[in-house]
Amino acid sequence: MEVSKAVIPAAGFGTRFLPVTKAQPKEMMPVLDKPTIQYVVEEAVQAGIHDILIITGRGKQAIERHFDKSYELEEELKSAEKYDRLDRVRQIAELADIHYVRQKERDGLGDAVRYAKNHVGDDAFALLLGDTIIQSDIPCTEQLIREAEAHESSTISLERVPWDDVPSYGVADIETTPSSQSSFPVTDFVEKPARDAAPSNLAITGRYVLTSEIFDALESTTKGVGGELQLTDAIRKLDSVRGVELEGDRYDIGNIPSWLQANIEMAHHHDDGEMNAAVQNLIEEQFA
Ligand code: G1P
Repeated sequence: MEVSKAVIPAAGFGTRFLPVTKAQPKEMMPVLDKPTIQYVVEEAVQAGIHDILIITGRGKQAIERHFDKSYELEEELKSAEKYDRLDRVRQIAELADIHYVRQKERDGLGDAVRYAKNHVGDDAFALLLGDTIIQSDIPCTEQLIREAEAHESSTISLERVPWDDVPSYGVADIETTPSSQSSFPVTDFVEKPARDAAPSNLAITGRYVLTSEIFDALESTTKGVGGELQLTDAIRKLDSVRGVELEGDRYDIGNIPSWLQANIEMAHHHDDGEMNAAVQNLIEEQFA
């Protein structure tokens, strides 16, 4: 097994962030000076992937424009001798080979992933949700790929969440207590269980490596929670699935507190030291 492709679903509504997402995709919400989806693409690239398929839909054209070359802007930055900015703008278009496919109807994450079948073929692939940023020393996707390749198995990133939050996630059922660093078998999953019915508080974080078996599994899956085709319901049908506990910070950008926190935390990792210090001062002033 060798994972060389990534799929990024970015077709959902950003209802929790209205009205800002009325006319722009939630995946374009800025965290500091970059849109969310750029962090996600960069995570895939850091994991050694250069072939990326983004699943878009109606009203998502800004995503394509962002990763495209911008001749007018580049010319303007060149004539203004703003070379730093020019480099940053150019790098975006050179990050990876990005392909697009449009989901026709918003029918759930499982339905969105079905659109990747032709592009992915028989290969295993990384799947990264376009509205989730993960900050970790080893990129989460790299860690998943390593474990998936070692065990020739679909592998999913999981995180312990507060029990009250469990109904917002897909949740794993496991037999053995996971040890950090390495992966462990997952026996089952439940999408958005009631708190009392949840088999654990190990939630799916939005990063997966899946074998191409997932496409047949999706074909035979019927609509689940929320009347949508749930990816989790198809993952349950795979022969072997492993989990890896996330070592890092996850930000769900569809949710305002998490987005605010992402802006503060990501400032620590920004290569602009001045901005980093300015954010630190701001936090100290606000919370002193
Ligand atoms: C999706 C998945 C869920 C996962 C979550 C992570 O749910 O269906 O299994 O735990 O992403 O953010 P959504 O947030 O789209 O409802």
